[in-house]
Amino acid sequence: MDTSLTVVVLAAGLGTRMKSRKAKVLHRAGGRYLVEHVLRTARALAPPERIFVVVGHQSAEVRAAIQTPGIGFGIGFIEQTEQKGTGHALMVAADTLAGLDGRLVILYGDCPLVRPQTLEGLVAAQQSSAAAGAILTAAMDDPTGYGRVLRDRDGQVTGVVEQRAGTPEQLAIREANMGLYCYRAAPFWRHIQELRPDNPAREYYLTDMVEILHRAGHAIAAYRIDDSREVLGINDREELALVDRLLRQRKVRELMLAGVTVEKPETVTVDPDVTIGMDTVVDPFVQILGHTTIGENCRIGACSIIQDSELADEVEVGQFTIVGTSRLERGAHAGPYARLRMENHVGAGAHVGNFVELKKTRLGAGSKAMHLAYLGDSEIGARVNVGAGTITCNYDGTRKHPTKIGAGAFIGSNSTLVAPVEVGDGAYVAAGSVITNEVPADALGVGRARQVNKEDWARKRRELGKAR
Ligand code: UD1
Ligand code: CA
Repeated sequence: MDTSLTVVVLAAGLGTRMKSRKAKVLHRAGGRYLVEHVLRTARALAPPERIFVVVGHQSAEVRAAIQTPGIGFGIGFIEQTEQKGTGHALMVAADTLAGLDGRLVILYGDCPLVRPQTLEGLVAAQQSSAAAGAILTAAMDDPTGYGRVLRDRDGQVTGVVEQRAGTPEQLAIREANMGLYCYRAAPFWRHIQELRPDNPAREYYLTDMVEILHRAGHAIAAYRIDDSREVLGINDREELALVDRLLRQRKVRELMLAGVTVEKPETVTVDPDVTIGMDTVVDPFVQILGHTTIGENCRIGACSIIQDSELADEVEVGQFTIVGTSRLERGAHAGPYARLRMENHVGAGAHVGNFVELKKTRLGAGSKAMHLAYLGDSEIGARVNVGAGTITCNYDGTRKHPTKIGAGAFIGSNSTLVAPVEVGDGAYVAAGSVITNEVPADALGVGRARQVNKEDWARKRRELGKAR
């Protein structure tokens, strides 16, 4: 017997209840498009050439959402230009798929929580019975919106009735159809064209296949799971938020079990591709996003946001600090209240303090910019001290220019470095200078008006005031 699997993911609908201009499967939860989650699960089950996605609404964008992260390679797409229901999607797919034997697993693109193990259980349930198909069901406290599973007196599944078509007695049933199916391909395709839109919504319901196959003398098995939270579908923004929370919980839990301390984990957002080393502590309200890797023994301060960055071991990020596409070497410090905007490299043991912004800047090992500075397009050597209020004037209104500061240099407070400009190794810049020319190595650069004291000036002014 052919036990090969074909997986079909339905992702053509608009998702009216989302109240959105965007196709539902393009909304994001747990750091990924909804359809991307489902595709990843599908890939654990079948080779790409046996995976098909039914697209329709905004199909170009949906295809791109699958192709971009590289999980779409080799999979097939089927266009359902008019969306007349989940059953209609399969009627359209029949042209492409009816020739493929074995088993047919059908998933909905709006069900991102499902895990490969759960689908394997569903497939096994179908295979171990003589049934023509198995549907995944769960008892729900509130099954409103879900199809209800109908059984006869012997407990055999006879059909699924949709919310909009159910009688009050049927709607009182708590066992819900979770929208994941495994059918034997041959009987499924033999009967698919029997679907009719004879329901209040005038849709072709995929769920009617249960009754059609039952009437044709086939048994349908129910693979019942305990926790419906694992297969929740998303129809509106409230469910989107709930599923996002569950996916975030999964990721944070994984990290905690791998040795990361996460304080108030329910407030922390970590994207799926993030890795964090042992004994790192993540404070409340932190967001760690994109392809970020964090080493061991780091501390990420409360309310900080780190995106697409690499932090070596022992790095400390203070509270309210934003780090984007940057690398921080071992023992580096950033924040509180620092912004490492993009493409920065902070050397080992270097410090970036409060209200300091870095953009496309390399700060050498052991260097410090502790307070109130803007360092852009800069190449700063090791053991440099950048005083409070230092600004690199990297933009002339048309173009950006580089600033170079040599190892061991000292930039006095409130200096203005007008780029392109270079300060040599070991040089000093006097506080308050405007530096427009090179400061050679070991020199002192002073670029400010000399101080003048006017003796008795203040006293005379006071006396003049009294005399009036
Ligand atoms: C469906 C089931 C319901 C089940 C629930 C579980 C049907 C008729 N009902 O209802 O029994 O309890 O899922 O979450 O199947 N889609 C298409 N083409 C279409 C219509 C929909 O590709 O013409 C796609 C959508 O993009 C979506 C998925 O199918 O990803 C499910 O459609 P949706 O309208 O959300 O079905 P539900 O009403 O939730
Ligand atoms: Ca749904």
